[in-house]
Amino acid sequence: MENSAKASFSGDRFWANFLTFSKIGALSQGGVERPFGSAEDLEARKYLRDTCQTIGLDFQVDAIGNLWAVMPGSKDLPMIAVGSHHDSVPQGGRFDGALGVLAALETLQALKEGGYQNRHPLALVSFTAEEPNPFNLSTMGSRTVAGRLRKDTLLLSKDWNGRTLQDAIRAVGGNLEQVEEARKNSSELGAFLELHIEQGKRLERAQKPLAVVTGICGIYRLEVTVTGEANHAGTTMLTDRHDAFLAASEIALAFEKMLLDQQQDELVGTIGRFEIFPNAANIIPGSARFIVEIRASSVNIMHEMAALFQKEAQTISARRGVQFQAQVILDQAPEAMDQFVISTLEDVSTKLKIPYDRLFSMAGHDATHMASFTKAGMLFVPSIDGKSHCQDEESRLEDIVLAGQVMIDSIIQLDQTMDTNS
Ligand code: GLV
Ligand code: MN
Ligand code: MN
Repeated sequence: MENSAKASFSGDRFWANFLTFSKIGALSQGGVERPFGSAEDLEARKYLRDTCQTIGLDFQVDAIGNLWAVMPGSKDLPMIAVGSHHDSVPQGGRFDGALGVLAALETLQALKEGGYQNRHPLALVSFTAEEPNPFNLSTMGSRTVAGRLRKDTLLLSKDWNGRTLQDAIRAVGGNLEQVEEARKNSSELGAFLELHIEQGKRLERAQKPLAVVTGICGIYRLEVTVTGEANHAGTTMLTDRHDAFLAASEIALAFEKMLLDQQQDELVGTIGRFEIFPNAANIIPGSARFIVEIRASSVNIMHEMAALFQKEAQTISARRGVQFQAQVILDQAPEAMDQFVISTLEDVSTKLKIPYDRLFSMAGHDATHMASFTKAGMLFVPSIDGKSHCQDEESRLEDIVLAGQVMIDSIIQLDQTMDTNS
């Protein structure tokens, strides 16, 4: 194929692969569960390895377990990578992450079959552990590639049951002793593109099939422990109690009020993980452990909210005679997508006559870490009814095909315009 000719994204082939992949970790209500380190994670990795090798890509697993499948280029130039993640949240949907990985597969296959002569090496990447996991290290693979996770932190990391991260990483084919080798710089990785579902309702409301992402929110997480006093649920007077659950509940409601008071669209907060101990019907809860998450488009607001939360939680805890402790487990700044990549995605969408919106993402993505050292960009397709991180997650194949074609043509345009003086 001439370099000016086109490769076509095959919706049929993408969908057939997607349906097969969706069986890995399939749940009864149409979703999937493929947490990092699980048997389903291993099965998904094997599927991707076999499929990539069958179409002739050079498949490698790096030291943190990220999957890379490379189509060599004709010149000694930085790689252009496209992909996402194959793990899922508990009781999640089929599209989050998997869409981007399987669209990357179709993209490379279409380019290869069309005989496109790429100058830059092109790669599919599927990152390790993008979603929150028992090691409290979400976006683990992309953070490591960006040099944002230190070897000593990783080597010390254990899950809630005491399993070491090294054990889990070895099981997926990596090795933390060599984790520095997984790090990349911009002369190795020149650009990264990710296709993802929107996970909200804005595209549906705007009746647009596509969005070019302008930036990704900051995410801040605290692991909180509230310690009260366990005691008998019948014999302890209400006024004598130091109930950790009730204290944590008051803290949670104060957290919601504090966020609502700001009246800002690009500021949200969630307590999505919550445990009480010993968790028995006839025992006053002695302690509660939960994760507080704040997301914002401004790092200052995110930090202001985190400080305000701690102040209010301390006040409530003191009044209720419980102890409040909090440990920061994530402090990730918002990140802008690369202007050159944004312009390329917009230019290609315009040439293909596909109407698009520009959206700032309040979901986190691996692209946020790629953007810290290389040119990164993202495309969103609409999520039906805005549903995501649940089994009802759905997107339309016709929208995916449009976005897939934008991805293919953008890779061609980047391949031909980046490093043109080399
Ligand atoms: C990623 O799934 C996120 O938490 O936004
Ligand atoms: Mn997700
Ligand atoms: Mn995702």
